[in-house]
Amino acid sequence: MYPERPAGIAYGGDYNPEQWPREVLEEDVVLMREAGVNLVTLGLFSWALMEPEEGRFAFGWLDEIIDRLHANGVAVDLGTPTAAPPAWFVARHPDVLPVTREGVRIGFGGRQSACSSAPAFREATARLVRALGEHYRGHPAVVMWHVHNEYGAPLGECYCEHSVAAWRAWLRRKYREISALNDAWGATFWGQTYTDWAEIDAPRANHTTVNPAQRLDYARFSDGQHREHYALQRDILRELTPGLPVTTNFAGTVNCKSTDLWQWARELDVIANDHYLQAERPDNHIDLAMSADLARSVAGGRPWMLMEHSAGAVNWQPRNLAKRPGEMRRNSLAHVARGSDSVLFFQFRASRFGAEKFHSGMVPHAGTGSEQWREIVRLGADLRKLAGLRGSRVRAEVALVWDWESYWALELDWRPSVDLTFRERMDAFYEALWREHVTVDFVHPSADISGYRVVVAPSSYLLTEASAKNLHRYVEAGGHLLVSYFSGIVDEHDTIHPGAHPGALRELLGLSIEEFHPLREHETVTLTSGDPARVWSERVRPAGAVTVEGFADGPDAGHPALTRHDLGAGSAWYLATAPVTGLRDLLARVLDHAGVSRPRGLPDTLELVRRGGHVFLINHGDRPVTAEGVSGVSVFDGVRHDGPVTVPAGAVTVLLETPHP
Ligand code: GAL
Repeated sequence: MYPERPAGIAYGGDYNPEQWPREVLEEDVVLMREAGVNLVTLGLFSWALMEPEEGRFAFGWLDEIIDRLHANGVAVDLGTPTAAPPAWFVARHPDVLPVTREGVRIGFGGRQSACSSAPAFREATARLVRALGEHYRGHPAVVMWHVHNEYGAPLGECYCEHSVAAWRAWLRRKYREISALNDAWGATFWGQTYTDWAEIDAPRANHTTVNPAQRLDYARFSDGQHREHYALQRDILRELTPGLPVTTNFAGTVNCKSTDLWQWARELDVIANDHYLQAERPDNHIDLAMSADLARSVAGGRPWMLMEHSAGAVNWQPRNLAKRPGEMRRNSLAHVARGSDSVLFFQFRASRFGAEKFHSGMVPHAGTGSEQWREIVRLGADLRKLAGLRGSRVRAEVALVWDWESYWALELDWRPSVDLTFRERMDAFYEALWREHVTVDFVHPSADISGYRVVVAPSSYLLTEASAKNLHRYVEAGGHLLVSYFSGIVDEHDTIHPGAHPGALRELLGLSIEEFHPLREHETVTLTSGDPARVWSERVRPAGAVTVEGFADGPDAGHPALTRHDLGAGSAWYLATAPVTGLRDLLARVLDHAGVSRPRGLPDTLELVRRGGHVFLINHGDRPVTAEGVSGVSVFDGVRHDGPVTVPAGAVTVLLETPHP
């Protein structure tokens, strides 16, 4: 199910009129019309106003706001405010306050101050959501439900007494017999064998390291508890308002490590993602593209919604740089290019008080005389011209393997090198593909990947037998797979696959690893191509694979660094190190081998993405860029381009494509 309204691309954001006097609402609706705002999210943090005392609900203030918005053509994404339980509730049920891994019970005064497993919180949630659903059932302004806010951020794992009780029940359901749990957790190591479920605790902070299989299960369990809290609300809302889609906003697909979004996606009617730039990071638009591609991928390739981003600066980074002129527009259109059917912000009007008073809004503190407001109004007009894109898809020939379980497992304590991190490798490969102008999907290793020409596994440390077989079948049937080091090492219990590494992939890659040789910080080795490489070297023993490139020096001098194993109708490549500069060339070799077509000769400051018969050309650089091989009519100014298209510095051109003459 997908929201039927607003038509076209949804534009707007979180709206918190309860922070303002009534007159401001009048001003806001006028401004919303000026900017073309057609959707706002309401009530996300308003539990204290909706239920001022236990069991007494007060929706009159909200009715007035919703009616006013409705009269002005603005639809409502109605929030359930469970991310902000009220003070009276927490005072009455202090046991709902979450406990950190270190054993600190957090206090009231922030948000997310209740544990998803706490029975009193679940009961109060159900009561409130039922009242909200009953009150707004049939209201013409409400087009979708927005449950909670960013599950998992900042509250991922909780270590309170309710969590431990739920954890034991979860383990019982999963393992049935305590002996099965002991086997799965390798409990004979350090003499941790359990004889009763009641002996099992959460993997609390410890003076040494805690059983990694226990921690991995706790990550699964904790994420699942939040999903249960979400599903409790969703089921009530589905019962009361069967025609309305239900969602929750992800705390940035790429940045919220604790949520397994492949699992979450099954529970949502529409995928909604938040993304904030790391303001100080150069080329932060590449992280944005990655977040959008991952959102589209967890949506199963279908359109999704950008639920939050910022019009200007955020307030929670060390140095909160304002967006430069044009940057907000590039960001917004990049999300649309990559499949979003909405451009929504946190928030409509910047707050005067509270923790986020220095966070930008669509209406900044400087008001509507500002450059930022002019950009907001212009963007609204541009999005109306892109209305026809709604519902259209983005196609990719290349996929990156992304599995949250592998992410969790890889970054537990005591691994061969602290430089082995999931995001570091994922970012490196994504960036190389982005610079090659290749649009990618993300896939779970067990998914149907037969439609991709190339699949890359940058960091698949945890890989089940079944997933490894899936990759094997893919290659045999003609797929081309590139695997990076430290993949296929352990199974779902963080137990090493039998025999030499990489146990799950030895046969497929046609090689084995005799020894890991992690490099020192800042140490590099040289490949036979002359390119430097860092982080990792290892002794590869080919058994069917051919050497494409070797190590010229370092601990594995004279041995393979890049191999290819031709298998069935496809090929399986393996890269045993982290090239410093050469990753893009090396990837290009694999893409060429697999026949992946892509634009050539374009500078890598230009983002080129296709969606629904349109080509988006986003120039992130400070010079004009000329693109060959694209033609069509510019959506924003109606100009026809038959020859090369020049995109001014910092600008975005969107062409309704026509075949190139
Ligand atoms: C998001 C959150 C919003 C707001 C925003 C500020 O993570 O969902 O409520 O706090 O950050 O950037």
